[in-house]
Amino acid sequence: MAVMTAPIHIERVKTSRRASIDFNNLGFGNYISDHMSLTEYSNGSWGETKIVPYGDLTLSPAMLALHYGQAIFEGMKAFKNKDGQIIIFRPQRHLQRMNKSLERMCMPLLSEELFMSSLTTLLEVDADWIPTNEGSSLYLRPFMFASEAKLGVKISDEYKFIILTSPVGPYFSKAVKVKVEEEFVRAAEGGTGFVKCAGNYGGAFYPTMLAQKQGFDQVLWTDSKEHKYIDESGAMNVMFVLNGKLVTPKLLSSLLDGVTRDSILTMSESMGIQKEERRVSVAEIEEGFKNGTLTEAFGVGTAAVVSPIASISIHGRNYELPPVGPDSFQLRAKKKLNDIRMGYEADVHGWNYILPK
Ligand code: COI
Repeated sequence: MAVMTAPIHIERVKTSRRASIDFNNLGFGNYISDHMSLTEYSNGSWGETKIVPYGDLTLSPAMLALHYGQAIFEGMKAFKNKDGQIIIFRPQRHLQRMNKSLERMCMPLLSEELFMSSLTTLLEVDADWIPTNEGSSLYLRPFMFASEAKLGVKISDEYKFIILTSPVGPYFSKAVKVKVEEEFVRAAEGGTGFVKCAGNYGGAFYPTMLAQKQGFDQVLWTDSKEHKYIDESGAMNVMFVLNGKLVTPKLLSSLLDGVTRDSILTMSESMGIQKEERRVSVAEIEEGFKNGTLTEAFGVGTAAVVSPIASISIHGRNYELPPVGPDSFQLRAKKKLNDIRMGYEADVHGWNYILPK
């Protein structure tokens, strides 16, 4: 991927906040690095990108994103590999998805040049913020929102494209307990479930909060018509090992085309397991628990990486997954993904974008 770097204005912080961060105890999303990238859109074109100290913005309370929800984001990760090179994992794939989100929300698309030059310049400036502890990374959050001030319901003519970065540890600290959701719906087919618009997440808070009050960590979303088929879980796609096969819900307009989902399906081809992307019914998962053919269930996502599912509640009955053994598919897949990113295994699919020194 060739990146032509347009001139980018850089204003550096006077004093870095980095020394105040405990890199051994990051959690997820608690800290934001010193700088952010900011590009503004108006009169039909993008202005100059600036790297500026991370800080508050001055915005109109009438801006359209706050009222009518034109706001989308991506989630990506950067690492330092075993040779100390900075890598971004699959940025082109993330850009493709970001542009799908932008198109669906009637927002201006991003060129590869604008996206990559903002990202790489920001990473060069905040390279010291990339954690090196195992399981940690620099989470990259490109996002865009409608900034035109107008109360009329319309497609905005002005936008801000910002990238924040955040040193993060694991998203979940333990295996998650999920509940099959049979009342609320995350997304219907034909809606916006396949894109990363802010409203998808806000709309999921209430059912998730109710599930958490019942002792679960996340909900397992089902189809909007019958609640019979599994879509995805909060902030991650889901995969099962059922009858010795890797089974995952096929992509529909109601679920997110996860980059980690795609990476694991691709890697599975060389891992001695057959994969099935298809509709996955709640009934067959329950049957798999009963007859012992469901041996693994896990969530996959950029933030979640590969996160084991401890139990699934189906129609009010709680089913426990067996403990995750060292030879389990999910642990092997997690290790393989990490080895590719760190440079211990050949990157045969060309997933790592290595920043030029
Ligand atoms: C990601 O994996 O990047 C996500 O979008 C999850 C996020 C909402 C924390």
